[in-house]
Amino acid sequence: MDEGRVVLIDHPAIQHKLTLMRERTTSTATFRALTREISMLLAYEATRDLPLVSHTVETPVATMEARMLEGKKLVFVGILRAGQGILDGFLEVFPSARVGHIGLSRNEETLEPAEYYYKVPPNLSIRDVIVVDPMLATGGSACAALDRLSAEKPRSLKLACLLAAPDGIRKVHASHPGVPIFTAAVDERLDDNGYIVPGLGDAGDRMFGTK
Ligand code: PRP
Ligand code: URA
Repeated sequence: MDEGRVVLIDHPAIQHKLTLMRERTTSTATFRALTREISMLLAYEATRDLPLVSHTVETPVATMEARMLEGKKLVFVGILRAGQGILDGFLEVFPSARVGHIGLSRNEETLEPAEYYYKVPPNLSIRDVIVVDPMLATGGSACAALDRLSAEKPRSLKLACLLAAPDGIRKVHASHPGVPIFTAAVDERLDDNGYIVPGLGDAGDRMFGTK
C-alpha cells in the first residue's frame, strides 16, 4: 500500500473543467454536467493499478489471450449527498462496478460528520474500494467513511475527490496512512466555517440547487 500518498491529477482537461466549476455564476445544470465529466477522468486516473486477468478471446482473425478487469471486484462508495455526482461519472467508466453509499452530514457549527445511512456491498475483503466525495475539507467526513470501510478490511482502499484542503489531507494521512488520495487540486486553506478557500462553495448545494 502507498504510505500517505497524494496523487494530484492535473490533466489540462480536468483543470479546465474544475475552473468552470469554481466560477460562482455556473448554473446547477452545468455544475452537475461538469461533475460527471471530470469524475470520468478522475476514475480513469484512480484505477490505473487495477489488476487484470487473462481471458481467451476469438477475434475475427485469431484466438488470443487478452486482458480484462477481474469480475465484480470494484466498489465505489459515495459519501452522500455530493458524492453521488462523482459516482455518476465513475459508473460511466465502470458500469459494472458495485456501489455503496454512506450518508454523512457535517454539523455546521461543530463541523463533525453525523452518519445517517450506511449500505455497502458484502465481502469487501475480496474487493477494491474507492470512496468518492467532491470535497475533502476538515477531513472529518472522509475519515468517518474510511473508518467504517476499513473495519470491513477491503482488499484495497482509496479516496478520490475534486478539491482537497491541506487540513483534510493531514487528517486522512494521520488516521489512514495507507489510503492514497486522488484529487484534482489542493487549495490554500479552510475558512472559519470550514469551507475550502478558494474552493467552489458548497458542492452539494451547487450540485442539487438547494440554496
Ligand atoms: C460536504 C462534502 C463532504 C464534506 C466535506 O458534505 O460533500 O462530504 O462536506 O467536509 P469535511 O471534510 O469537513 O468533513 P456536507 O456535509 O455539506 O453534506 P452534503 O453533501 O449533503 O451537502
Ligand atoms: N463542503 C463543501 O461542500 N464545500 C467546502 O468548501 C467544504 C465542505
